[in-house]
Amino acid sequence: MKKIAVLTSGGDAPGMNAAIRASVRAALYNHVEVYGIIRGYKGMIDGDIKKLESRDVSNIIQRGGTVLKSARSEEFRTKRGREKAYKNLTELGIEGLVAIGGNGTFTGAEIFMKEFGIPTIGVPGTIDNDLYGTDYTIGFDTAVNTALDAIDKIRDTADSHDRVFFVEVMGRDSGYIAIQTGIGGGAEMVMVPENPDSIEGVIDTLSAGRDRKKSSSLIIVAEGEDLGDAHYISVKAKEMLPNMDIRMTTLGHVQRGGAPTAIDRILGSRLGLAAVEGLLEGKKNVMAGVINDQVVYTSFHDSINKKKPLNKDLIKMVNILSI
Ligand code: F6P
Repeated sequence: MKKIAVLTSGGDAPGMNAAIRASVRAALYNHVEVYGIIRGYKGMIDGDIKKLESRDVSNIIQRGGTVLKSARSEEFRTKRGREKAYKNLTELGIEGLVAIGGNGTFTGAEIFMKEFGIPTIGVPGTIDNDLYGTDYTIGFDTAVNTALDAIDKIRDTADSHDRVFFVEVMGRDSGYIAIQTGIGGGAEMVMVPENPDSIEGVIDTLSAGRDRKKSSSLIIVAEGEDLGDAHYISVKAKEMLPNMDIRMTTLGHVQRGGAPTAIDRILGSRLGLAAVEGLLEGKKNVMAGVINDQVVYTSFHDSINKKKPLNKDLIKMVNILSI
């Protein structure tokens, strides 16, 4: 393999730049030419592809977002779009791909690989930590720390006003960001899609807190929570507890930005390197991840279709520690 390309696709995540840098430098170290595809699959279709040298990835390890930019491409979902993309890659002689992103990125890569046979290795870059085949995804640790920073501030105002706050965090269908943020932020309750919740349960928790002389409370709601979003749940809680002063906040995209933590820089570096090494060893159609501190490769099929379990003991722990 003499020429490869790197892309980032889907929601950006802090640490993606570290993974780009590592892939580029690992390729050059192995005398492989490397190209950057701008805006993920969209750029592949538009032919927005440029050759990268080592200096092109200088000074990016500390930066949030992705220097290659990202997009969610509808056109790549069509056969015609993928044919255009393949034509652009073959014109440049690109023989392998490193695709940094999440579930949607790997789904696209798997279809593309089946149709056109270009070996692809995925790197898990998403704040959601929802990919099977890696203990953590790149960006998750930074997102949790960003959410915690916000929650510490919300706690100050909640405490000053004796208020209850519902705080909604990201995570799509996964409760990982919510549970880690809830533990780290000392929340009274965490509501995640992996665990059934009820309004009665929320009311019980808040009433029990009041009986134990808690003056303020914090409930973390994952955006994928089955019961509804934090706004809906807070309105229901207000109806049932009219004497409590209740507010809600949605943290939103602030969780996707910012300088990556050390953990995300290191994870991005390890997996960017592992992706290129995997390609050179002849691996394809797999995601590089880290499990128990070891690099492992998991098939796209499993990483997309298998559900990463959330440790329910952690939910119980939040309840125990918030008495
Ligand atoms: O996958 C990352 C993520 O931030 C999810 O947590 C969230 O559901 C989604 O992306 C938001 O996507 P967009 O930026 O396209 O609104």
